[in-house]
Amino acid sequence: MDKLVIEGGKPLSGTIAIQGAKNAALPILAASMLVCGTVTIDSVPKLLDIEVMLNILRELGCKADHIGDTVVLDTTLAHSPHVPETLMRQMRSSIFLMGPLLARFGEVHVYQPGGCAIGERKIDLHLTGLQALGATIMESGNRIICKADKLTGAEVNLSFPSVGATENIMMAAVLAEGRTTISNAAREPEIQDLQNYLNAMGARIIGAGTDTITIEGVESLTPCRYKVIPDRIVTGTLMVAAAATRGHVVLQNTNPAHVSSLIHVLRRAGVQITADDDIIKVNSIARPKAIERIVTSPYPAFPTDLQSLVMVLLTLADGVSIMKETIFEGRFKHVGELSRMGADIRVDMNAAFIRGVSRLYGATVEATDLRAGAALVVAGLAAQGRTVVEQVHHIDRGYDQIEHMLTRLGARISRYTPVPDDRAVPNG
Ligand code: UD1
Repeated sequence: MDKLVIEGGKPLSGTIAIQGAKNAALPILAASMLVCGTVTIDSVPKLLDIEVMLNILRELGCKADHIGDTVVLDTTLAHSPHVPETLMRQMRSSIFLMGPLLARFGEVHVYQPGGCAIGERKIDLHLTGLQALGATIMESGNRIICKADKLTGAEVNLSFPSVGATENIMMAAVLAEGRTTISNAAREPEIQDLQNYLNAMGARIIGAGTDTITIEGVESLTPCRYKVIPDRIVTGTLMVAAAATRGHVVLQNTNPAHVSSLIHVLRRAGVQITADDDIIKVNSIARPKAIERIVTSPYPAFPTDLQSLVMVLLTLADGVSIMKETIFEGRFKHVGELSRMGADIRVDMNAAFIRGVSRLYGATVEATDLRAGAALVVAGLAAQGRTVVEQVHHIDRGYDQIEHMLTRLGARISRYTPVPDDRAVPNG
């Protein structure tokens, strides 16, 4: 497994453009199964999760090329509603294919994505939403078969604004007969992006970005070319990295409105931020201030995906901060690793109490999931001495060559890939 080696203590500095959003690109690729023909999707980052999604689409009979950051996907010859178990296990987001495959083939065969490193991650809301549209669901072991001769519009009231369930139901409803209304829908920007993509192909959806989404079913869609929004979590990662290293960075191709809760938090910590159109400038010269309480919640509140990253900044703050995680129960795995770097954090149930220290020290640490891994990289950049981050494949799920991105901002970071005789060689 690859490792990242970081020589810390150097402020980040420079200008960089943000990659397209993984969490928007994945449902957009899945939604392409609703159309017959060739779609072109721009600003699709080169990531492990995207590769897995494209491999699933190829297994289903599509032709897919990912050249630069553009995906050209021809769904004409798609013939199978069976998502292979091996690929399904590689990425939970393959569950997004349920709605589109059900709409296209009248049936879909998937497998329980199962538990994952950050918590249980149930799919009951996806299933009850599809049932409301007329699907019957059979579960046998960890296999799920969903069938519907015909999908019909319905009123779906989500008991929790699940991002994935909102997207799955939206996709299934696009070709259903009649009107579907999703209430208590998730409001994340990625859902608006999915709406815009589907509407560009002829769907009739309004309301994404609010808690009520209405979909008027249409007969068919027409292929289009579409550009994915910038990744707000990568944006946030670099904003925190700049703040934690007391650096100065300019981020281009961003949408400041999508990270407004983070901007608010960082300003409270004393970080200087200016935002203008699609540019965010972050400047940090002083020790961050502690923040009394941050609670992760559905958008537009503070996102769970930035919890571990902001925690790194708070480990260096002047005073005690509290971080409460309300979305995923297993999302404090980075705490033990940060403690090995000198952080002073106590966890009680779903709250972390962070007493700021004057510095972190380099150590060998392990990425346990995507955002925990990114947080350890940021901690390594801010720490004194050398940090080795192991299990980098988790980070590769969401960041397009994180070491190249950070090197361009002046970081001292290299990736080491083990060779068969156990000697590690640097490769960038
Ligand atoms: C998406 C994001 C992920 C982010 C999360 C929350 C993608 C690919 N991933 O994940 O990065 O951290 O939103 O912002 O977009 N739940 C149920 N039943 C369900 C579905 C969800 O109980 O059927 C619960 C989950 O266990 C979790 C909470 O709802 O506690 C949030 O999950 P959800 O919003 O669905 O997240 P994902 O779509 O999986």
